[in-house]
Amino acid sequence: MVVKPAEKKRLVVGISGASGAILGIRFLNALKELGVESHLVISPAAEKTINQETGWQVSQVQELASAVYRYEDIGASIASGSFKCDGMAVIPCSIKTLSAIANSYSADLLARAADVTLKEGRPLLLVVRETPLHPGHLRLMTEAANAGAVIFPPVPAFYAKPHSIEQVVDDMVGRALLRLGIDNDLYTRWT
Ligand SMILES: Cc1cc2nc3c(=O)[nH]c(=O)nc-3n(C[C@H](O)[C@H](O)[C@H](O)COP(=O)(O)O)c2cc1C
Repeated sequence: MVVKPAEKKRLVVGISGASGAILGIRFLNALKELGVESHLVISPAAEKTINQETGWQVSQVQELASAVYRYEDIGASIASGSFKCDGMAVIPCSIKTLSAIANSYSADLLARAADVTLKEGRPLLLVVRETPLHPGHLRLMTEAANAGAVIFPPVPAFYAKPHSIEQVVDDMVGRALLRLGIDNDLYTRWT
């Protein structure tokens, strides 16, 4: 019998064009700090939000990841169930991308990788950011949840008494990582 050494954790990360690009950036940074392999796909709309909302260049965000894939490259390795990984996070997740995932409308690599994550029974975390929500949004979230996704809206933990946006972001990212089974000390534990 051949016993393989324990493999490094590996996550697929999608950044879509909802507000909160910094959440995806901090998430990637945390994975790097924690030694978790990250496989990144960024939507064209997310390139806009990265530029509009943060001081980061898209290329700098890509440098945080272990591997980067083109949004249009639906033949990339992460589009297949044979790509072994520990799950995927879409952070932040727009309503458009939520809709694509909920409907298995896999016309781009981000939605396809998410659909593959679900069909392989791996954890899929959707950090859906929109407000207010109409019944169609709520229906899409229910459909995605019924298919196995975890709906994880970026809701601040006010009881942690954050003093800065950075603290709020770290808390959300820490909890998102924890929900994917990756322990960390970014979030405030309630005692
Ligand atoms: C600055 C900015 C902020 C946006 N914020 C949101 C948002 O919070 N939620 C959302 O669903 N769409 C938001 N949008 C709209 C999406 O970017 C748009 O629907 C886009 O087509 C989503 O494409 P994607 O899902 O492929 O990234 C925002 C757009 C811009 C430019």
